[in-house]
Amino acid sequence: MSQSGITVAGPNEPYKVVDSIPKPKPQHNQALVKSLYVGLNPVEPFMQHTGVLVTSWPAVIGSDFSGVVVETGPDCKKLSKGDIVYGCAPVGIGEFSPFQETFLVNEDWVFKKSENVALDAACTVGAGILTAALALLDGQHLTLPTPGNKAEEKDSWIIVMGGSGSVGRYCCQLASLCGYKVLASCSPSKNEITLQAGASATFNNRASVDEQVAEIEKITGGKFGRVVDASAQMQAVEASIKALETVSNESTKYFATVDDWSPISVPESINLYRVQLGKVGRDDELGKHVTAKTVEWIPTFEKNLESGELRVLDFHLIQGEGWDKIIEGIADMEAGKLPKKPVVKVQDA
Ligand SMILES: NC(=O)c1ccc[n+]([C@@H]2O[C@H](COP(=O)([O-])OP(=O)(O)OC[C@H]3O[C@@H](n4cnc5c(N)ncnc54)[C@H](OP(=O)(O)O)[C@@H]3O)[C@@H](O)[C@H]2O)c1
Repeated sequence: MSQSGITVAGPNEPYKVVDSIPKPKPQHNQALVKSLYVGLNPVEPFMQHTGVLVTSWPAVIGSDFSGVVVETGPDCKKLSKGDIVYGCAPVGIGEFSPFQETFLVNEDWVFKKSENVALDAACTVGAGILTAALALLDGQHLTLPTPGNKAEEKDSWIIVMGGSGSVGRYCCQLASLCGYKVLASCSPSKNEITLQAGASATFNNRASVDEQVAEIEKITGGKFGRVVDASAQMQAVEASIKALETVSNESTKYFATVDDWSPISVPESINLYRVQLGKVGRDDELGKHVTAKTVEWIPTFEKNLESGELRVLDFHLIQGEGWDKIIEGIADMEAGKLPKKPVVKVQDA
């Protein structure tokens, strides 16, 4: 049986709306989900232009989604037909990708929607929160309090470079939930949303490296040992490493970055961690590790989201509905026209 969606024939080939994509069948603890909304991320144009992460051609892509379960595999325990789920697909694996009518999920890798999370806003959670969790919980060994409990307040800052972005705002939320004071960089026009995400203070991400390091020193007095770059901007990477080297007065130093492609070197005194969310669902050693972490965190994050300890992000809902709107939304995102995370309605439930 075939279904509609968007395909890409090869690297840098255009998106094409088709109705000939094979409909997958859920096995084991997989479920078949009808795609309702998708959230757009920089990884979509990255895959379409470069082909990196794509496992087969023609490719069906997509990352953040919300949808409804229409069929379950024989070993499903968490999911039943009719459940509303959301999350981030294992990117580049066609049958698991949400730019098509129905796609597979593994029931352990998805969030079950609670009442307080809206169907469209649910698409702002998956990639952002899991990337932030890899950076902070896996890369920098932070411990989340059990849901409903407050972490002990620490006399230490975590610096989030790019604290205004989707990943950055989840970094701010998670670091704050773990009891740290958060200092985040952002454009001055985004101070307010960055503070709302849990930062206690902000500084200008367009200032020079030396100016950013000076601001970090002034605000923290050197009381930090952890920096997360959620922007993948080289200037932010440079400022992060320089701040850890010259200003931090903590003995153990961590630097995590979402840039897993550029050459980056750090002095021996700094523990470097490069986030690779794209490894979810892959069979190699890192893939198994990242997938296991995702499975471990999701039940906690579901509770945090239900209780309001973690919050969805604000977003830009693209006008209209359907596959063409995804293509338009990606073009606008690439042109820098969308100030907030783009979300597209693709089908009615
Ligand atoms: N490695 C992985 O597994 C992984 C996973 C997810 C995402 N990523 C990457 O992470 C990055 C962020 O993703 P996102 O979804 O959070 O994107 P986003 O929402 O667009 O956020 C981008 C962030 O970068 C900041 N920024 C943009 N231009 C800048 C500049 N010239 N100097 C300093 N800061 C600048 C923005 O700050 P202002 O808007 O305030 O200026 C914002 O905080 C992307 O490159 C994405 O590909 C990697």
